[in-house]
Amino acid sequence: MNCPSDWPEPIVRVQDLSESGQPTIPDRYVKPPLERPRPVTNSDLLGDVNIPLIDLGGMFGDDEDAKRSIIKQVCAACRDWGFFQVVNHGVRPQLMDRAREVWRQFFHLPMEMKQVYANSPKTYEGYGSRLGVQKGAILDWNDYYFLHYLPARLKDHAKWPAMPESLSREVIEDYSAELVKLGGGLMKILSMNLGLGEEYLQNAFGGENIGACLRVNFYPKCPQPDLALGLSSHSDPGGMTLLLADDHVTAGLQVLKNNAWINVKPAPHAFIVNIGDQIQVLSNAVYRSVEHRVMVNSEGERLSLAFFYNPKSDLLIQPAKELVTAERPALYPPMTFDQYRLFIRTRGPQGKSQVDSLRPATSSCESS
Ligand code: OGA
Ligand code: NI
Repeated sequence: MNCPSDWPEPIVRVQDLSESGQPTIPDRYVKPPLERPRPVTNSDLLGDVNIPLIDLGGMFGDDEDAKRSIIKQVCAACRDWGFFQVVNHGVRPQLMDRAREVWRQFFHLPMEMKQVYANSPKTYEGYGSRLGVQKGAILDWNDYYFLHYLPARLKDHAKWPAMPESLSREVIEDYSAELVKLGGGLMKILSMNLGLGEEYLQNAFGGENIGACLRVNFYPKCPQPDLALGLSSHSDPGGMTLLLADDHVTAGLQVLKNNAWINVKPAPHAFIVNIGDQIQVLSNAVYRSVEHRVMVNSEGERLSLAFFYNPKSDLLIQPAKELVTAERPALYPPMTFDQYRLFIRTRGPQGKSQVDSLRPATSSCESS
């Protein structure tokens, strides 16, 4: 099965809607009442709750105690949250700023220049405004750009924007190379913390042949932010996500924790890391991907760069043998990431319904 090569209805750019100055949003963007972002979230009630913040600086030094402490913090964050932020991660702050800057410039180019890169659901590469191909679906309030960095075979500079200037491809290259490094380092930590060898997860992902792609999300101002979502609730289908968000925007990413939505407040130059469905499968649900969504606001636009560290797309991904026991049988059947991601590509973001639907009906083992 493949995704269709065309969208089921004409594409409308959210940025055009936003810039039209209309005081109301079209019905297509109005969420059913239970999915709307307000009025109250757990963070509103509890004040300061945030996902864990971990300083990775010690991983680059010689202090073994410091390393052990960081590894433990990552372990707790993966088990308790599935979401955490890292600072002193080794990626240069200037490069992060530059990456945000070139993408912001891209989204502010005249529409005709962006339309050259209009995407289709066949591969999703390029400039897009919806996820999923269901006719009549309620849509999210965002435009995005999606591109492949790895494997090299799928990387095609012609599908990357050449604007705002020729340098932008160089920035995307540098940024992606750094994020592959950071992702690889985190994979080792996760693998050790799961009691698997340091290289287990990386090898299960295909070693050097992993997939890596970038989705740059652009959330224009929304005149009715209480009715819409920038991105509906979903878990990330891939391995691990490294997100660079605007750190000056108040309302944005929310994470579901104990059935309440927690606002993520990004630290300056932090990456927000989250576990995707493929690590949930490989870890036999010791680590779980976590539902998250994005709110929009009426004051300003928001930009985020989501870098997806994924398994090689045609490898079978299944629970690690070491984590399968008589008491805890394999919770998921083997499946390739190519097969797996068709779900979100056709149906759009649907909470955790996909990964949860894979569990055998007889399973009574529900962790956390
Ligand atoms: C995503 C995502 C969050 C954000 O792209 O999968 O969850 O803050 N983005 O844009
Ligand atoms: Ni996501």
